[in-house]
Amino acid sequence: MALQDWGIRPVTPITDEQFSLWQAQIEARTGITFTQTRRPFLEISLSTRMREIGIDDYDVYYELVMSGISGEREWVVLVDRLAVQETSFFRHASSYALVEQYIKQRLADKSCYSLNLWSAGCSTGEEPYSLAFLVEEMITNHQRQDIFYGITATDISFPTLTKAKQGIYIERKLQGMPDALKFKYFTQLGNKRDWQVNSDIKNRIAFAQLNLMELDKAPFADMDVIFCQNVLIYFRRFRKRDVVTQLAMRLRIGGILVLGVGEIMDWQHPSLERVEYADTLAYRRIV
Ligand SMILES: C[S@@+](CC[C@H](N)C(=O)[O-])C[C@H]1O[C@@H](n2cnc3c(N)ncnc32)[C@H](O)[C@@H]1O
Repeated sequence: MALQDWGIRPVTPITDEQFSLWQAQIEARTGITFTQTRRPFLEISLSTRMREIGIDDYDVYYELVMSGISGEREWVVLVDRLAVQETSFFRHASSYALVEQYIKQRLADKSCYSLNLWSAGCSTGEEPYSLAFLVEEMITNHQRQDIFYGITATDISFPTLTKAKQGIYIERKLQGMPDALKFKYFTQLGNKRDWQVNSDIKNRIAFAQLNLMELDKAPFADMDVIFCQNVLIYFRRFRKRDVVTQLAMRLRIGGILVLGVGEIMDWQHPSLERVEYADTLAYRRIV
C-alpha cells in the first residue's frame, strides 16, 4: 500500500536556499541555530506544521510567518515546535547539590529574609518545581519559615509555559523522586495516571514568557540563584556569552549562576568567580 493511503506523506525536501532563509530567521529571533546536522529536524518540524494548516510550500509558509498579526500568532506555535523541551525533575543532581549548599549558607545568615531564584528556559516546569521543593524542604529543616522565597520561571514558548503552569505530570515523570516529596508536593488526579503540583508550591512560582535574546527587557534583578541549563546548547558562542553576561548582572552580590556542564567555554567576567563544585559549571557574583 502506498504511503499516501496511510495519510503518511514524505516530508517535502527543503532547498538549500529555503533552509538558509529559515535558519537565519529562526536564529535572529531565538538564538537557536540549525546546523546541517539538525536540518532534518527543521524540515520535519516545519513540514508537520505546514501540513496541519494546509500549506505545502516552505516559501508560502515563510510569508505567512512574516506577515502581521497572523504571522505573530503562527510564530508562537512554530517556536514551540522548534525548541527542544526535554527536561526532568532534579535533572543533573550535582547542580541541585550546589544550590542546596548555597541555600544552606543563606539560611544560616540571620540577616537573610528573602530568597529569589530564576529558572531561565524552564520548559514544562520540572526545573522550577524542583527548585521550589528543594527550598521548601530546606526552609522547613532549618526552621527559617520567616524567610520569603519566590521562583521566577521563564521560557520563550507560550504553549510550554501553559503546561508548566498547570503542573500536571504523568506518573512516569515522577519516577526517581523520593516518595516523601511526591506525596508531600503532588496530588494524584482522578484518572490515577496524572499527578498535579499542589497550589501552595505553584503559588511560589511566577511563570512568564521571556526570550533570552531580549534580556534587556527583563525587569529581574538581585537573584540569589539563576539556573540556566540545557538552553544555550544550540546558541552560537558569541550569543551564549552575551546571554550569560546579562544573566550574571541579574544576580545579587554573592548569588550564583548555574549553567549546564560544558555549555560555555573560556568565559570569564570581571564581576564573577568560578564556583568550584564537582561536576558543575557555576559562577558567583563578587562585585
Ligand atoms: C531542553 S529544555 C531545558 C529545560 C530545563 N532548563 C532543563 O535543563 O531541564 C530548553 C528550553 O529552552 C527554551 N528556549 C530555547 N530558546 C530560548 C530562548 N531564546 N529564550 C528562552 N527560552 C528558550 C525552550 O523553549 C525549552 O523549553
